[in-house]
Amino acid sequence: MKISIFGLGYVGAVSLACLARDGHEVIGVDIDQTKLDLIRDGKTPVVEEGMVDLMQSVVASGRVSVTTDSVHAVLNSDISLVCVGTPSASNGSQDQGAVLRLAESMGQAIREKGTPHVVVFRSTLVPGTVEDVLRPIIESGSGKKDGEGFHLCFQPEFLREGSSIRDYDKPPFTVVGANHAYPIERLQALFGHLPCKFLETSVRSAEMMKYCCNNFHALKITFANETARLCEALGVNPFEVMDLVCQDTQLNISRAYLTPGFAFGGSCLPKDLRATTYLAKKHDVEIPMLAGIMPSNRNHVDVAVQKVLETGKRRIGFVGLSFKTGTDDLRESPLVTLAEQLIGKGLHLHFYDPEVNLSRLLGANRRFIETHLPHIGELMKEDLEQVVAEADVIVVGLNDKEVFRRLGGLVRPDQTVLDIVNIPRELRPAGHYVGLCW
Ligand SMILES: NC(=O)c1ccc[n+]([C@@H]2O[C@H](COP(=O)([O-])OP(=O)(O)OC[C@H]3O[C@@H](n4cnc5c(N)ncnc54)[C@H](O)[C@@H]3O)[C@@H](O)[C@H]2O)c1
Repeated sequence: MKISIFGLGYVGAVSLACLARDGHEVIGVDIDQTKLDLIRDGKTPVVEEGMVDLMQSVVASGRVSVTTDSVHAVLNSDISLVCVGTPSASNGSQDQGAVLRLAESMGQAIREKGTPHVVVFRSTLVPGTVEDVLRPIIESGSGKKDGEGFHLCFQPEFLREGSSIRDYDKPPFTVVGANHAYPIERLQALFGHLPCKFLETSVRSAEMMKYCCNNFHALKITFANETARLCEALGVNPFEVMDLVCQDTQLNISRAYLTPGFAFGGSCLPKDLRATTYLAKKHDVEIPMLAGIMPSNRNHVDVAVQKVLETGKRRIGFVGLSFKTGTDDLRESPLVTLAEQLIGKGLHLHFYDPEVNLSRLLGANRRFIETHLPHIGELMKEDLEQVVAEADVIVVGLNDKEVFRRLGGLVRPDQTVLDIVNIPRELRPAGHYVGLCW
């Protein structure tokens, strides 16, 4: 394939070298003449393991050329990979100066081209940038429409400096956000041979997931480091601890707990986080990330409170009350916290939770309810029908397919359903559907 690469920093230079190594004809474009001169001489513009030899051999092969002329690059390639920098501005926002200027020159170049050009943004871009900011610039510059005269798509880059050639050859996956089949086909031809999944998604999801990946990596590093600081203060070996933590691939290093939903609660996580935070305070160890978890969890409950209040309705039916579906444990249940806030606002609540009700009847948690939550115990109902019939808003907090099916036959179109468990689309009841944060 004939490829032009805009921006010859870490991402662009490594991509240029690897694509040329794989037999493609590559034109490198940069505004920095020094980088172009280095590449023209077969030298690498970035310090990366393996790049000295690779750049020398691909330039010697004759498959690499460089230019500052965007029009020349676009006219002489089928596809452009955009790898210009998107650094932080002083206020923390993304400085999009380089990519905006590039979009303008890309538009001018595409205006002069007779065949549809594919533009792949590989720079990290805040969600919405490609479709809402760059597309209009390129459309007005070229006088052509995305999906007709040219094709835009977004493919996040996952390589890491220091191991970038190895990462290029073995990425965690290839993710392409696109609105048309053609750019996906072209990228499959370029990257489909890599030993990883090739995933297609929307442009916005592709933009967002890149941030999520980096945030997750930063979070993991900080988790290990905060743990180590606390371990040191307690005389515990942090390497041993983290090694043990990582050996649990069921709950720790796994998909577990990574699906959006409602706040956590129960008899373990909140109390153990509080004890950890207290321990750190006692030993003068700062753990702002771990200490921020409980307040963030509380914010999540506040979102649900706000969503109920925004309906302006006053009769609320709760389906679910315990901290987790399938248990009667009410200790630190976020649903109880939500209910208490709504009761405090003067709303009228009723609750249906078969597990809690059963254990209440059996007497198992009767004492807990009577001593800690007497106001809630009185509002419990035995049947779902009654709770739904008497409510204007139904808060679905039980994650149970059978309950979803029953709700499907009970909810009226005039009622609002606040879903905090992500009911599968096909089981969502009639009525005005409101997702917690989806
Ligand atoms: N560095 C990494 O490890 C890495 C990994 C994944 C993603 N990314 C993302 O990839 C993008 C590029 O990162 P980088 O570290 O390679 O950047 P970099 O700063 O090393 O290189 C950017 C290059 O773009 C050039 N440039 C600026 N405006 C231009 C224009 N109008 N036309 C042509 N070239 C232009 C600059 O001269 C520079 O050489 C960023 O969005 C970054 O967030 C970087």
